[in-house]
Amino acid sequence: MKKLGLLYEGKGKKLYKTDDENLLITEFKDDLTAFNAEKKGTEAGKGALNCKISTHLFHILEAQGIKTHLVDTLSENTQLVKKVSIIPIEVIVRNRATGSLTQRLGIEEGKKLPFALIEFCYKNDALHDPILNDEHCLLMNLVKSESDLEELKRLAREINSILKKFFEARHIDLIDFKIEFGIDHDGNILLADEISPDSCRLWDMNTHEKLDKDRFRQDIGSVKGAYEEVLRRIVSQ
Ligand code: C5P
Repeated sequence: MKKLGLLYEGKGKKLYKTDDENLLITEFKDDLTAFNAEKKGTEAGKGALNCKISTHLFHILEAQGIKTHLVDTLSENTQLVKKVSIIPIEVIVRNRATGSLTQRLGIEEGKKLPFALIEFCYKNDALHDPILNDEHCLLMNLVKSESDLEELKRLAREINSILKKFFEARHIDLIDFKIEFGIDHDGNILLADEISPDSCRLWDMNTHEKLDKDRFRQDIGSVKGAYEEVLRRIVSQ
């Protein structure tokens, strides 16, 4: 597989074209950003850790019937992925209240939610990724139909129940996460982007220690150490 020109550079990844028009190469960057890139940092080796963690989690999900864009791992920090058209909706799943949910609605920090809450946000940095309801999504043609929205919710719930159980067995509480979906050239909805400590909140089940990007957001330190701990736990069984 030949790596060709840069197609797109995001906050956490670079996307390259390949000599196959249906395949792209994703390179995970060491850069860290938070608060819509108002806070910036870098951590050598973070990209490789996220690449390994995300690859492992996508394999777990594939094994349980979730279709993803992942094709292969090419190096420590690069993956070969199917080319998709990204649906510009960030799908957020929450099992406990924290972050913007507690800020917006005043729900008690850390409160276990009675059911997995699904939220949609508009993937738009200039507008600070505002929250959307179903009608906003349809009004703005972010998806083709109501049934696509229902499919995103169904997939998000399914992914949550697989990952929650998987992390629980490793003494990690999956607090919340963000996922993105894309549409491939055959019209299938695939899980795309990444699932890593950059896009999840992961708390140690016993100590409630944060093992995710909140360590960077809140200046707790040892960001890389926490990501290494997540990788160690998910590959250890
Ligand atoms: O900030 P908020 O509480 O809405 O984040 C919910 C979850 O979604 C967190 O796990 C966070 O890391 C993730 N997220 C993300 N990218 C964004 C917004 C949120 O990965 N742009």
